[in-house]
Amino acid sequence: MDYKNYTSTPKASEIVAWSSKFMTGIELIDGQHKELVNLTNELYNACFAKDDDLQVVFKNAMSRMVEYVRFHFNAELKFLNTINYPDYSSHRKMHETLIKNILEAAKEAGEGKKFVPNNFVRTLVDWVFSHIAVYDKQYSAYVSEQVKKGALTTKKIKEAEHSAALEKLDKY
Ligand SMILES: [Fe+2]
Ligand SMILES: [Fe+2]
Repeated sequence: MDYKNYTSTPKASEIVAWSSKFMTGIELIDGQHKELVNLTNELYNACFAKDDDLQVVFKNAMSRMVEYVRFHFNAELKFLNTINYPDYSSHRKMHETLIKNILEAAKEAGEGKKFVPNNFVRTLVDWVFSHIAVYDKQYSAYVSEQVKKGALTTKKIKEAEHSAALEKLDKY
């Protein structure tokens, strides 16, 4: 998937812009996805640090991004588990694969194998934001459908968000 599909009118310093394509309608999740957009753009900007600082600046931005992705994935799973999302297991597996791929790519980057930070961030954008636009959108559709059917109440959704919000970022 082309990352450009996700950038409506990005500024020069942005590789990804928040878009309705990512909207789940779940406040906690949308807030975390927006933070992912911010951290991704910070990582992208880190690619343009001066040569001497590049390694350090990029590594720091990279670890903030990875930590946040793990934190978000866990919070999201907690939410999905609380609402008894039927595709919970496959969603969890997708998160695991994504983390594995990101860590492998970051490791290769650390080893300096023909590493082009800019390209690496594009790949990362592609992985993370296509997951959100496709698979997170699926549970979002499920939630609205259940609400329509009366099988899920706003109160229950808020409770699930509340329990997911207990996930702490400093664990990662
Ligand atoms: Fe997500
Ligand atoms: Fe997800």
